[in-house]
Amino acid sequence: MSPFHLTRTLPEDATDAALRADVLHGLTATPKTLPPKWFYDAHGSELFERITELPEYYPTRAEREILIARAAEIAAATGARTLVELGSGSSDKTRHLLDAFTGLRVYVPVDVSESALTQAGRALVAERPGLAVHALIADFTARLELPETPGPRLLAFLGGTIGNLLPDERAEFLSSARALLSPGDALLLGTDLVKDEEVLVRAYDDAAGVTAAFNRNVLSVVNRELGADFDPGAFAHVALWDPGHEWIEMRLRSRHAQTVKIPAVGLAVEFAAGEELRTEVSAKFRKEGIRAELAAAGLELAHWWTDGGERFALSLSVVR
Ligand SMILES: C[S@@+](CC[C@H](N)C(=O)[O-])C[C@H]1O[C@@H](n2cnc3c(N)ncnc32)[C@H](O)[C@@H]1O
Repeated sequence: MSPFHLTRTLPEDATDAALRADVLHGLTATPKTLPPKWFYDAHGSELFERITELPEYYPTRAEREILIARAAEIAAATGARTLVELGSGSSDKTRHLLDAFTGLRVYVPVDVSESALTQAGRALVAERPGLAVHALIADFTARLELPETPGPRLLAFLGGTIGNLLPDERAEFLSSARALLSPGDALLLGTDLVKDEEVLVRAYDDAAGVTAAFNRNVLSVVNRELGADFDPGAFAHVALWDPGHEWIEMRLRSRHAQTVKIPAVGLAVEFAAGEELRTEVSAKFRKEGIRAELAAAGLELAHWWTDGGERFALSLSVVR
């Protein structure tokens, strides 16, 4: 295996077909929705990296704090020789794991963003001559085919990204993740925790407007890929806390009545003034909920670590 290897697990047109299907389904539904994975073209991935540096966006700093404090324990508990990371993005925080895993041979970052995978993978092999990086352009909600690599494997899903899945999607995701693991393998899961509403909402509605630009970027993706005529400025960024579901929702609110044409799927979509399109949910968790969701997928919560402010948690499950 060459030190940096990039594999597209789906044909090029599969992404296009998936976007068409999601747009057709989501923009004809009531209320209108689009899945968050479409934020992440090259520009969206860059905007997400800027979000992680914002003063309001505590999850990245909190998770990094835990990784710095616990990476050696995670390495000792798993003895992983392969690290598979879902939704790896820039792989920036992952470096704390890579530093601690002395026996690690292969890193398999998995993401829909080719630009993020290429940038992160090239930098990592240059920094770490002993490490093979086998990146996969893939959708982690679809069936994943991982390369043959030495075990034990640690499957990491950081950043609180699991919160972007709806409860039934999470259950399906965790069962599929469990099916990828053999005895001795482990799952490391990063989850943002329920906390004060104001802190949560500010994290998704920063003063500099970076999250608003990230949110509107999905409209630019649909314009570019499907020839649509969304005017991103005609939609306001909305972030709100849903206490019943314990999740943040990001929405785009139509500033006035408008019709958007999406020729590639033959749609003319009517938006009423004030109508909202849901672009992301970001669920927040509690320890007992995580324990129950893991158990339902056949995984046992073995370790639970939080940052000093108890804002974010890392859970480790080792398969017996
Ligand atoms: C919230 S960011 C987290 C990035 C990084 N793990 C971190 O902690 O900073 C979500 C990442 O998952 C990727 N992503 C989102 N939906 C995905 C999907 N369905 N399949 C694969 N990757 C996805 C995005 O491209 C992005 O890199």
